[in-house]
Amino acid sequence: MEQIIKIKNLRKSYGQGENRQEVLKGISIEVGDGEFLAILGPSGSGKSTLMNVIGCMDCFDEGEYWLTGEPVYKMNDAELTRVRNRKIGFIFQRYHLIQKYTALQNTMMPLLIRGVSRREAAEQSMEKLKMLGIGEQRINHRPNELSGGQQQRIAIARALVGSPKLLLADEPTGALDRETGEEVLALFRQLNEMGNTIVMITHDLHVAKSAKRIVKIIDGQLYEGSKSELLD
Ligand SMILES: Nc1ncnc2c1ncn2[C@@H]1O[C@H](COP(=O)(O)OP(=O)(O)OP(=O)(O)O)[C@@H](O)[C@H]1O
Ligand SMILES: [Mg+2]
Repeated sequence: MEQIIKIKNLRKSYGQGENRQEVLKGISIEVGDGEFLAILGPSGSGKSTLMNVIGCMDCFDEGEYWLTGEPVYKMNDAELTRVRNRKIGFIFQRYHLIQKYTALQNTMMPLLIRGVSRREAAEQSMEKLKMLGIGEQRINHRPNELSGGQQQRIAIARALVGSPKLLLADEPTGALDRETGEEVLALFRQLNEMGNTIVMITHDLHVAKSAKRIVKIIDGQLYEGSKSELLD
């Protein structure tokens, strides 16, 4: 099985001197191709900090991180930007769509950044939007003309469009009502069945249950266990 994530003894702190606070206290984890992992933890446990590190959006103090075998911890900013664009599809709680762009334009962004032609990008984006149930009549709508569930499906289309090796989601159902949240989780399970590797960060036990594997983060440290054990 191909290794997607390999993290060894990762440490990160914020602040200096007496204000220094260590948030990630020696995290180690491996995630293989095709896994669906939930990282579950209470508020303030370091979930978003870890998400930012896994997503190559933030640096860390100590430790090693390989993404699909590439040593992220040795990369400069330009290399990290490339890795973010090529290898990771991001899904956020509040969708992070660009308000002045249409559903289609938002979905095309990762491909345009890579230098794919507009025509090719539009074709591939349309295919993903269709797969996610966003039909022709919606693709030219702007985010504020769409429901939360529709916006999140557009964000998922945008995450998928470049065929990244990793889908990274931070509280993907956090802004949705229960029923719409369930639909998004069902979609995640379906995407995982299709072979996508998913890492999802959440404080919600019920949401974590959708994943095949759950690890807990408590006070900056990871605890691995069987799913039933952790859910107790
Ligand atoms: N940029 C920052 N500067 C200083 N401290 C920070 C910063 N970001 C986070 N922290 C601190 O790090 C700790 C972990 O924060 P983090 O946002 O990772 O938690 P979280 O698990 O995502 O919480 P929540 O569920 O509330 O989003 C907290 O004590 C927080 O105050
Ligand atoms: Mg957070």
